[in-house]
Amino acid sequence: MTSSPLSGEKPSAGGKPLLRVLAGETLPRPPIWIMRQAGRYLPEYRELRATAPSFMDFCYSPAKAAEATMQPIRRFGFDAAILFSDILVVPDALGQPVTFAEGEGPRLHPITLDGGLSRLSDEIDLERLGPVFETIERVKAGLGAETTFLGFCGAPWTVASYMIAGKGTPELAPSRLLAYRDPEFLTALIDRLVDASIRYLVRQFQAGVDAVQIFESFAGALTPAGLERWSLGPIRRIVDGVRAQVPHARIIVFARASGPGHRLVAERTGANAVALDWAVNGAWAASQVQSLKPVQGNLDPLAVVAGGAALEDGVRDVLSTFGGGPHIFNLGHGIVPETPVEHVGRLVKLVRGEVA
Ligand code: CP3
Repeated sequence: MTSSPLSGEKPSAGGKPLLRVLAGETLPRPPIWIMRQAGRYLPEYRELRATAPSFMDFCYSPAKAAEATMQPIRRFGFDAAILFSDILVVPDALGQPVTFAEGEGPRLHPITLDGGLSRLSDEIDLERLGPVFETIERVKAGLGAETTFLGFCGAPWTVASYMIAGKGTPELAPSRLLAYRDPEFLTALIDRLVDASIRYLVRQFQAGVDAVQIFESFAGALTPAGLERWSLGPIRRIVDGVRAQVPHARIIVFARASGPGHRLVAERTGANAVALDWAVNGAWAASQVQSLKPVQGNLDPLAVVAGGAALEDGVRDVLSTFGGGPHIFNLGHGIVPETPVEHVGRLVKLVRGEVA
């Protein structure tokens, strides 16, 4: 295959700023994108979202999902577009249906109460995810040459936690308990998700993404031993499995609230870059993480809600903390729906040095 769709080609010097940082370059100004940049803080998103009967329908409608992907790029000119979809399309495509109750978050029939693994398909049904790959092709066709296109998946522990509890839970008690009571079951489930994630990410690269991010949103719920076993190990297997098929696949790993685990992500997972949450000590992360791998992050999303001095000082801090090495500007977790849109515009200008 000679054409560009098989991304993960060896990165060339020059080119998209975000890919240059992933290759280890320090740029005078960091490229910027924002986790959950397509979403409810944008009035145009809320309008588009209202045209779909459900959130999953929206994710599986290529024209709408492609439009949602592009909305924040048009408004703010971010350096990366992230595929509009959700980490929970993976259980959906393994035969555990997912719904989103309006205003309440995801709902699944907990797998442990519902026949266990025998109810799941052995392999992810990539045909069911056809609309996601069609979304990627549509976005790719319209994206500017400077903008990096990111795909993503959830890390196995995070996705398994939803599959086990059937919903978000404050401290992940259901999946943490299962890890103690029936580690064989959890191992088998995580293995299934490792395999599904490899196939899913490879297909995203083939459809046209330039890089992917793996979201371990629930890393902070694990003990240090649990982090190794249920998070870092499985993520490493995904990274290796994807690279076996897409040799130059560029991968960002976000192990939220993992504290010192952020360094382990750099050491153990094979990631090209480490996304940092907002609670990480900046001086520590610059010396212990950024010395090993490019970093991404880590402004507190609530500083963007507050605006004013919180935003100005927060941006200045992040820029000075990570300005000496390869850095992608982002928040320390997803932007929240209450964020005033003007504050996001201000944030982008501050990061780009377009205001005093
Ligand atoms: O803009 C983007 O970042 C791209 C799209 C994206 C969504 N979800 C869209 C979405 C991405 C990358 C995700 C990842 C995701 N989904 C994660 C990992 C990142 C994180 O935030 O920790 C997780 C844990 C989920 C699961 C999920 N999806 C939950 C818990 C919820 C409900 C709570 C919430 O934040 O709304 C969703 C719904 C969801 N996914 C929305 C969006 C824009 C809002 C629903 C709507 O618009 O109706």
